Amino acid sequence: MSPETDFVVIGSGVAGLRASIELASAGARVTVLTKDKASESNTEYAQGGVAVVLSEDDEAGLHEEDTLVAGAGLCDEKAVETLVTEGTKYIKQLIDWGAEFDREAGKLIFTQEAAHSRRRIIHSHGDSTGAELVRALIARAGLEKKINLTPFANTERLIVHDGRCVGVEFLDPVLRAPREVFGKAVIMCTGGAGQLYQHTTNPSVATGDGMAMAYLAGAEMADMEFIQFHPTALNLEEAPRFLLSEAMRGEGGILRNKYGERFMPNYDERAELAPRDIVSRSIVAEMRRTGTRTVFLDMTALDGEFLKHRFPKIYDTCSHYGLDISEDQLPVSPASHYCMGGIRTDLWGRSTLPGLYAAGEVSCTGVHGANRLASNSLLEGLVFGARAGQAAAEESKDLRVKREDVASSDQSLVSTLNSQLSTAVKKRVKRIMWERVGIIRDREALVRALTEFEQILAGSISFSSRKFVTVAKLVATAALWREESRGGHYRSDFSKQRDDWRVHSVQQRDQPIGSAHSISFQS
Ligand code: FAD
Ligand code: SIN
Repeated sequence: MSPETDFVVIGSGVAGLRASIELASAGARVTVLTKDKASESNTEYAQGGVAVVLSEDDEAGLHEEDTLVAGAGLCDEKAVETLVTEGTKYIKQLIDWGAEFDREAGKLIFTQEAAHSRRRIIHSHGDSTGAELVRALIARAGLEKKINLTPFANTERLIVHDGRCVGVEFLDPVLRAPREVFGKAVIMCTGGAGQLYQHTTNPSVATGDGMAMAYLAGAEMADMEFIQFHPTALNLEEAPRFLLSEAMRGEGGILRNKYGERFMPNYDERAELAPRDIVSRSIVAEMRRTGTRTVFLDMTALDGEFLKHRFPKIYDTCSHYGLDISEDQLPVSPASHYCMGGIRTDLWGRSTLPGLYAAGEVSCTGVHGANRLASNSLLEGLVFGARAGQAAAEESKDLRVKREDVASSDQSLVSTLNSQLSTAVKKRVKRIMWERVGIIRDREALVRALTEFEQILAGSISFSSRKFVTVAKLVATAALWREESRGGHYRSDFSKQRDDWRVHSVQQRDQPIGSAHSISFQS
């Protein structure tokens, strides 16, 4: 790989692949660095589908309204409008590129998920929507000769020169040594940070690296307190927290407590299809009330053949653990799932650090506000990945970045040893986050979490471990700062939503936490 390219894209989920295709279509050379094999990402595991306005009884205004309601007063309206109006175009383009969505008699099938006023979720192979998107995007990217994708290339930090992000340092998978690559701009698409928590639906790559790298390089981070916990992750001693899609409740699944009683109507009139934060908190309350660690998802009223066909991956995975989804009660509990906050960007993916763009789950465009509407994030990755690619290509046309201009002022922090995320640190942080910065938070627990993070940071730990703790600290700091409850952030000591808190949290390195009325800081 050449040490100089036009653009560096970090990550190969929906956002990174879509941004790369856009850049290459504009004639640019694109170096894509990705931590694991190309397909390993949150995108790969997405089940429920993509929310998009394509059915006859739907319209952009309704999708926009549902997204704004779910966001609990903190969405940026322009960002939401961009998502829902441009989303349809990008999905049609993806279908033209070969992505297959489930159909009946040639027509797309739409399913229901919580807080959507229409059936507007399209899906692939029943419950393998993300894998189909990755397949189609990797195939499309493969047609672009100017895209050079390097798997198993763990990016460690951003290189900033004269106030501009001009490259990255990563661990070369072949040489097993740190290397640099320079470009006109970097597009961060490293996804979320579900792995911060002991129980998560996210794969092991989701450790928030991009958030840490951007923050340490000086970019602003927004709304880090807002973490979405998915209500229904399979909870078995011997199994990872495998997601049981919200679409299962959309198709008629019921939640029951250990006595077999349906409990959601006692908590919210929308019952199983209330927004995720409400269902997750209700499950926690019900588990406490009944003294258990799980509740149960009951699909037994649905036809077995239908379930097998509609949720083949879930069916097979549950069978592997000895559960028949059409006959058995499925033990579930909430798990961390999605980060609403991230690198603060405008509508073109520009971060506040010149030369650094961000798209997808690592970013905060204001699309999700305090709580993401189900199945809006694959769409976000497509729309804002493409927009970040367009903007970067357009704005950097006349820029030249040369390695020799930069190298002398920049000191490497990376070594093979420094790049190991210590298992002990990871385990400790995950436990602290789950117990003190989880679904229900309060001042005392958050202060204790922050004290523990400072203690860990004061020790001698690797650069990678430091980044992991840094992201945990960003979440806990913002959660302590926000003295109200809103969307994915619930404080038992400030249990009401308050109008004077209708602002975004903003964190920047070496600055006290502050606030902003809008995520977008330029047009
Ligand atoms: P990702 O897809 O996570 O990609 C991030 C990429 O960055 C990966 O390739 C990763 O390896 C790479 N990376 C990370 N760190 C580094 C590093 N240091 N160096 C180099 N590369 C790095 N959303 C929906 O809209 N619909 C759904 O049905 C849905 N279902 C979901 C089910 C599950 C189980 C999960 C976990 C999430 C689901 N989501 C769903 C959310 C959605 O999948 C993600 O928000 C979205 O895919 C994020 O895309 P992304 O491109 O931003 O990040
Ligand atoms: C699910 O299938 O329940 C996940 C959907 C999402 O996270 O958007």
